[in-house]
Amino acid sequence: MNSDSDLQIAGDILEVPHLLQAPREHPATVAEFVGLARSIAADRAQWEHLVRYDATTRWYHRLRTGPGYEVWLLSWVPGQGSGLHDHGRSSGVLTVLDGTLTERTERGTRVLEAGAQRVFAPGYMHEVVNDALEPAVSLHVYYPGLTEMPMHAPAACEARIEPSPVTA
Ligand SMILES: [Fe+2]
Repeated sequence: MNSDSDLQIAGDILEVPHLLQAPREHPATVAEFVGLARSIAADRAQWEHLVRYDATTRWYHRLRTGPGYEVWLLSWVPGQGSGLHDHGRSSGVLTVLDGTLTERTERGTRVLEAGAQRVFAPGYMHEVVNDALEPAVSLHVYYPGLTEMPMHAPAACEARIEPSPVTA
């Protein structure tokens, strides 16, 4: 017993499950959305067999939906990129599942290896490119679901783009 505290727990809390907060079925916080993406990333059986690599067009597959959110699986063959865009009113979590992607923003260039995650708020503008020599796979959680992806002229971030270490 801790003599510094008057609080005592009688018995084992796990013996009274009706008093425990039920685990949420769907994520509701940034941390929970990040956690959802990490758990999917770690469970390759959920997504690996679905991935297609298409050299003619960017491939994507809606993996899951929930109240107010969507989870998309994307593949990137070398050289494929998104163009500079934002995500309308959606927030998002980008997670690299396989390979390496390069993210360019007006603040610079970031190389994202498998396991890397980026969380962004509505209005966040970036360009994602597979600058590597191997295909890449990524997972994208959007809240609310992505309804628009306005494209932008590349001049906004060209001035500060530095060569990626992957291609240098
Ligand atoms: Fe994006």
